[in-house]
Amino acid sequence: MSKPLTIADLKTRARRRVPKMFFDYADSGAWTEGTYRANEEDFAKVKLRQRVLVDMTNRSLATTMVGQEASMPVALAPTGLCGMQHPDGEMLAAKAAEEFGVPFTLSTMSICSIEDVASVTSKPFWFQLYVMKDREFVANLIDRAKAAKCSALVLTLDLQILGQRHKDLRNGLSAPPKWTIHHGLQLATKPFWCMDMLRTKRRGFGNIVGHAKNVSDLSSLSSWTAEQFDPQLSWKDVAWIKERWGGKLILKGILDEEDARSAAETGADAIIVSNHGGRQLDGAMSSISMLSKIVDAVGDRIEVHFDGGIRSGQDVLKAVALGARGTYIGRPYLYGLGAMGKPGVTAALEIIRRELDITMALCGKRDIQAVDSSVLADVRF
Ligand code: GLV
Repeated sequence: MSKPLTIADLKTRARRRVPKMFFDYADSGAWTEGTYRANEEDFAKVKLRQRVLVDMTNRSLATTMVGQEASMPVALAPTGLCGMQHPDGEMLAAKAAEEFGVPFTLSTMSICSIEDVASVTSKPFWFQLYVMKDREFVANLIDRAKAAKCSALVLTLDLQILGQRHKDLRNGLSAPPKWTIHHGLQLATKPFWCMDMLRTKRRGFGNIVGHAKNVSDLSSLSSWTAEQFDPQLSWKDVAWIKERWGGKLILKGILDEEDARSAAETGADAIIVSNHGGRQLDGAMSSISMLSKIVDAVGDRIEVHFDGGIRSGQDVLKAVALGARGTYIGRPYLYGLGAMGKPGVTAALEIIRRELDITMALCGKRDIQAVDSSVLADVRF
């Protein structure tokens, strides 16, 4: 098989290897998927300035996100059910990120637990928190992340109720997968995935099972979130979570200038401009079209991070040029993971690094720290 050159190559391979219900889970947006598509498409509306005769030697992509070193301004985003794209997926992705020198963020809704990931990594990773009605369970999750020496908590604000993703409902998505005829057919066509999955014991929600009380139907993500996630989450809760955690706090899911200003007032360390990959409010603006407005709204009061629609290193450069200190990739690394396991995550990171590095040079910059809106020729929104 030839070497994957683009994130799209990894996506094609993941589609071949991963059972449809899990591939679709990653590759889906809410309702019409309009915002999901806009996240990707709006990047094409940002044009770069080609510069010449500029010294291009000794280039550096190194930066920091919430004061922590990163070999490029890219972190792995928290993604639910990552361990269904590939057995033990979160552990493999965390190791690939650690070797690459970028932050890995473990989702609350992961298959491998906080403790599983801590057992295979030697540097701190980040933990993403969903807030459930059962505050004792939430406090316990925070304490487990502390005990595992996680170095930042990413608090998701835009999923108090779950957006409807038609593909998941049609596929009857569940973890562990059900063995009905419908599901069996999807699994039967992916023998390598099935064989690998039989070798691991990690097939359910590792952070929840055995830790949360009164969990009735965890196999169905939509009914479980409807039952357990707290629809009354408020800015006051951010204060107690900040206090209980006591470390670096990143607020994820800001897409509005007014919310961005409120987030800056919480004293958190960073916000992530995000619409949850188009998986929540279909019809919302694309992330990239909101980025510079949010940067202007908060000024230098809080670090601004970005996710949504990044499929190349060029997209990373554009987000940095529009004011993001760092970015997150979700689907690009999940495609790599589904396609090839840990080497696939490394391949996704390498593809993005190469594209970012060459693009930065051809825009006349040698250091990512010096990239600003002067590398852009035109922004059409
Ligand atoms: C939540 O983790 C999701 O499915 O977007």
